[in-house]
Amino acid sequence: MKITYLGHASLLIETNGKKLVIDPFISGNPLAKDKFVVENIEADYILVTHAHQDHVLDVQDIAEANPGARLISNFEIVTYFSKYGIDGHPMNHGGSWNFDFGRVTMVNAWHSSSFADGTYGGNPAGFVIESGGKSVYIAGDTGLTMDMKLIPLFAKLDLAVLPIGDNFTMGIESAAVAADYVECNKILGYHYDTFGYIEIDHKKAKNIFDKAGKELILIPIGDSIEI
Ligand code: NI
Ligand code: MN
Repeated sequence: MKITYLGHASLLIETNGKKLVIDPFISGNPLAKDKFVVENIEADYILVTHAHQDHVLDVQDIAEANPGARLISNFEIVTYFSKYGIDGHPMNHGGSWNFDFGRVTMVNAWHSSSFADGTYGGNPAGFVIESGGKSVYIAGDTGLTMDMKLIPLFAKLDLAVLPIGDNFTMGIESAAVAADYVECNKILGYHYDTFGYIEIDHKKAKNIFDKAGKELILIPIGDSIEI
């Protein structure tokens, strides 16, 4: 499973011959917009955790550039985008589905979820993705929650992708506790540095995880890791 950081909370996951784009927010991200051409991003699936603008901004452009791409999200978000002709697979919390690339479980996130125009965006979620013999937890925007202790029941994780930017989500200290709750020692940090509210000290962040016996991976936008 290859995971490329597209900036903010956007990821490209390549697994089992499929391309999964997570929470695409590139054209509005000052740190990412010059690094990618949104219309050139290839996707077989687009996974969306919640309806906030910094997670859905480029869904439509990527879907239009990739005819046949399916949106995987909660019922409300899939319904919203279906009005724009985007094909989707609706899910809800606690449910799993076997796709051609692997299994997705929609899990809880403690946050909010509304579209920029005020439309109700259902409840915010995270995903556990099991594919190609690997399992990754993508937390979405969330605070630290006891529900994270349920994640190991769904899968033994090889990687947890956790927000670390604070203010709108968990900060670094909470994310280190979350890593414990989900029983994973390898963490990819996301949702940081994009704007002033969520700028972090990278060295301090890595030290906090080091002390907790965990590895925090922070990679430049456009770089990839393999798990
Ligand atoms: Ni959000
Ligand atoms: Mn966000």
